[in-house]
Amino acid sequence: MKIGIIIGSVREGRFGEAVGKWVLEGAQARGSENFDYEIIDLLEFNVPLLTSGVVPGAANKQYDDPNVQAWSKAIDGVDGFVFVTPEYNHGVPGPMKNAYDSLGSEWFRKPVGFVGYGASNAIRAIEQWRQIVSNFAQIDVRNQVELSIFADADEEGFAPGERRAGELEGMLNSLEEAVTIMNR
Ligand SMILES: Cc1cc2nc3c(=O)[nH]c(=O)nc-3n(C[C@H](O)[C@H](O)[C@H](O)COP(=O)(O)O)c2cc1C
Repeated sequence: MKIGIIIGSVREGRFGEAVGKWVLEGAQARGSENFDYEIIDLLEFNVPLLTSGVVPGAANKQYDDPNVQAWSKAIDGVDGFVFVTPEYNHGVPGPMKNAYDSLGSEWFRKPVGFVGYGASNAIRAIEQWRQIVSNFAQIDVRNQVELSIFADADEEGFAPGERRAGELEGMLNSLEEAVTIMNR
């Protein structure tokens, strides 16, 4: 089974890229026999603002825009997700929400775990994501990683605190369990 680690920031100099790589390394170090992890970097897809007249949930995975089609294929190709999400203005980041809204059944019933980061640890953004993903009946695992761009950083950038690896482990345990159950 495959789990996609979605890097949700597309900003120049983004903090999120290092976080996504850390999640991938932590996931691969687990050596789970049944799971392959891959990064799905939103920046690489250049998903346009949703302007299509067809509601994505009714598009049957057929999109006019080639970038949306490629995004659809990437999301369709995995069984579960880690959302690596910043918090912008006390909420979910706009580009990532737009990318979420641009698809439909590609998300359906696929479990999701959250690694949030921000000046105040992205707890609000994660809570908002939990509400959003319920529309596609995605199980959202309770364990989450709440990173601080201050406490989990040094002069060189992202530097996760000691207890973060264990928190990531706990979230991934729950996520793998949920994905296993959904694929029975
Ligand atoms: C538009 C914008 C709004 C932000 N709002 C918040 C916020 O509400 N809460 C917070 O903790 N951090 C906030 N921040 C700070 C971000 O957490 C920080 O810039 C982080 O590095 C953003 O992730 P990124 O660099 O991967 O895009 C905001 C940053 C931006 C760009």
